[in-house]
Amino acid sequence: MAVFVTGCAGFIGSNFVHYFLSHNNELILNIDKLTYAGNLENLNYEGDGRYVFVHGDIADEVLLKQLLDKHKPRAVLNFAAESHVDRSIHGPSDFIETNVLGTFNLLESVRAYWQDLPAAEKDAFRFLHVSTDEVYGTLSPTDPPFAETKNYEPNSPYSASKAASDHLVRAWHHTYGLPVLTTNCSNNYGPYHFPEKLIPLVLLNALAGKPLPIYGDGQQVRDWLYVEDHCRAIARVLEAGKVGETYNIGGWNEKTNLEVVHTLCAVLDELKPREDGKRYAEQITYVKDRPGHDRRYAIDARKIERDLGWKPQETFETGIRKTVQWYLANQAWVEGVTSGAYRQWVGKQYGA
Ligand code: NAD
Ligand code: TYD
Repeated sequence: MAVFVTGCAGFIGSNFVHYFLSHNNELILNIDKLTYAGNLENLNYEGDGRYVFVHGDIADEVLLKQLLDKHKPRAVLNFAAESHVDRSIHGPSDFIETNVLGTFNLLESVRAYWQDLPAAEKDAFRFLHVSTDEVYGTLSPTDPPFAETKNYEPNSPYSASKAASDHLVRAWHHTYGLPVLTTNCSNNYGPYHFPEKLIPLVLLNALAGKPLPIYGDGQQVRDWLYVEDHCRAIARVLEAGKVGETYNIGGWNEKTNLEVVHTLCAVLDELKPREDGKRYAEQITYVKDRPGHDRRYAIDARKIERDLGWKPQETFETGIRKTVQWYLANQAWVEGVTSGAYRQWVGKQYGA
C-alpha cells in the first residue's frame, strides 16, 4: 500500500510525514516542487524504505501518471500550495499557477488513474485536499465562528486561489464521482514553520535582537492550532471521513496578534532571557497594515469532533512552549533556513 502526498517539504506536510510514519508502515511518496518554502532538511529519512521523495510539480501530468501507475496509491493528499498571504499580494500569479491550475492538473491525473482501478480499490480510494479557513472571509467580533456551511468570501489572492481549488475538488466529486475529502483548517504553528509567517518570524527576530513587526493595531484575531493536532485531524479524516464532505479544523484558540506576540515574548523571557536583562516585548514595533487585512478568523470544529471524535490535544500555551523549545533546540535548522544554505543544497543536489 502507498499514500501520495504533495508539498510535504513544506511546514504542515513535513509534520504530516513525521506523524504518518510514526503511526503507519505504509510507503509515503512526497511530490514537491521545492519552491522557496520547500526544505528537504525537514525530512531526514535516508535509508528508510517507507519514504520516497520525488522532485516534481503537481501540474506535471506526465510525471504524475508515471508515479501513479507505478506505485498505485490508495490515497492522494494535496498539501502543495503557495501559502503566504503577503507574497500573494506582491505577486499573485504563482498562486493561480499552483493553487488553481496545479490542483486542476492533479485532479485530472488522479481521476484518470482512479477510473481504471478495480472496483474494490476504486471504492476505497480517497483524494484529500488540505485547505484553509481563509476561504470563508473575515468575521466581525460578534459573528459565530466558521461552520462548514458558511459561504465562501475570500479576500486575498491567496484565499481566492484556495477557494477556487476547493470548488474544483467539490466539482470533481459531484461530476465525476471522485471520492474526495476537504479539510479547512485555521492558522497552524509549530516545528519546521518557515520564518515568513508571524510566529516563527517573531521568534527568530526576537532572538536576533530585531524588531517584532505588528501590522496595523495588532488586534486581528486568528484561531491557532498546533500543527501536530492538524496532522492528527487529517489522518482521522482520511481514515473515517465521509466522502464528499468537508471538515473544519481549529483549536478553539482565538488570539489577537498582539496577544500571540506577548505570549511568545514571555516564554522566551523565561527560556532564553535577553543578555541585557530587558524583556523581548520591548522589541515590538508597529508597522504599516497589510492591504485588505482580514480582521478575524475562527473555526467551529464541532463537526469533526462529533463525527470523527477528533479534539486538539494542545492548548495555545502548551503548544507555543513546545514550539519555542523546538526552535531553541534546532539551531542548525534555523541557520540553514535563514542563511539560505538549504537552497544551495537543493541547487547542488538537483541542478538548476
Ligand atoms: P508551505 O508554504 O510551508 O509549503 C508548501 C509546500 O508546497 C512547499 O514544500 C513547496 O515546495 C510545495 N509546492 C509549492 N508549489 C508546488 C507545486 N506546484 N508542486 C509541488 N509542490 C509544490 O505551506 P504549509 O503552511 O505547509 O501549508 C500546506 C497546506 O496547508 C497548503 O495547502 C495551505 O493552503 C494549507 N493550510 C495552511 C495553514 C497554515 O497555517 N500554514 C493553515 C490551513 C491550511
Ligand atoms: P500569517 O502568519 O502571515 O498568517 P495569515 O495571514 O495566513 O493569517 O499572519 C498571521 C497574522 O499576523 C495576520 O493577521 C498578519 C499578522 N502579521 C503581523 O502582524 N506581522 C508580521 O510580520 C506577519 C508576517 C504577520
